[in-house]
Amino acid sequence: MVFYFTATGNSLYVAKELDTELVSIPQVIKQEGLHFQADRIGVVCPIYGHEMPAMVKDLLRRAEFQTEYFYLVLTYGMLHGGAAELAEEYLASVGKHADYINTIMMVDNFLPAFDMAKQVRQDKKVTENLTKIKADLQARKRYIQKAGLRDRMVHQGYRKSVNDQPATVWAAFQVTDECVGCGICTKVCPAGCIHLENQHAVYRQENCQACMACIHACPKQAIQMTIREKNPHARYRNEHITLTELVTANHHAGK
Ligand SMILES: Cc1cc2nc3c(=O)[nH]c(=O)nc-3n(C[C@H](O)[C@H](O)[C@H](O)COP(=O)(O)O)c2cc1C
Ligand code: SF4
Ligand code: SF4
Repeated sequence: MVFYFTATGNSLYVAKELDTELVSIPQVIKQEGLHFQADRIGVVCPIYGHEMPAMVKDLLRRAEFQTEYFYLVLTYGMLHGGAAELAEEYLASVGKHADYINTIMMVDNFLPAFDMAKQVRQDKKVTENLTKIKADLQARKRYIQKAGLRDRMVHQGYRKSVNDQPATVWAAFQVTDECVGCGICTKVCPAGCIHLENQHAVYRQENCQACMACIHACPKQAIQMTIREKNPHARYRNEHITLTELVTANHHAGK
């Protein structure tokens, strides 16, 4: 059993490679009585500011996992900043622990810092690294990826730059007149933050995860950040994941 949270498909792709029993976190979080039992349970999600998305933290805090082996795999783009140790600390703070926490580098979908057209051309050795993680999980390896001095400095520097605010500080978007009211953004949003009014998307910041699924999926590039983007014309979805899969994962979640 593997729980996943995804905006642009990287984490869903990894989750699909690791297990066949997939559980969407935005869907399951709405349920009462979050009690799960399986021989092996995993969580796959992106990191935002080196930490897990708010909704994933919420699940980890509230749910009960009865399992022989519990693991986290965190997808990231350029700098993990000691994400595995930060996740371990978070788990400890909510009275849980994992047997294995690792990270995997993939396309970085963070639009203020990266041009998606350039990101997709970088070879981040995803297949090789995923093969190693699969072998680790198969062997039930006990391992938490260590943070180096540079990782810690990167994380501290980041926290200082955002005045210790959570990653949702990046939830600052606007819908332009290019919107044609197709509704795709409302369906890929894992938190139910967008609805249509008079065939125009309306964004509500409350509960927004800053995941950027809406921006990346809009076929008209009508959702833009209110701060500068590296390339407002380039958007991203993992090459192995269809738009339908993202919609199935996230549609009407959080409502
Ligand atoms: C708000 C936000 C913050 C992010 N922060 C980081 C980060 O601190 N370090 C990093 O390497 N990647 C960061 N990323 C990139 C994602 O973690 C990465 O692209 C991830 O694989 C996306 O997974 P998904 O396709 O399943 O949504 C960030 C992305 C977003 C939207
Ligand atoms: S996906 Fe884009 S065009 Fe479609 S409703 Fe949303 S903002 Fe408008
Ligand atoms: S509004 Fe956009 S960024 Fe916010 S949770 Fe929904 S899809 Fe993610």
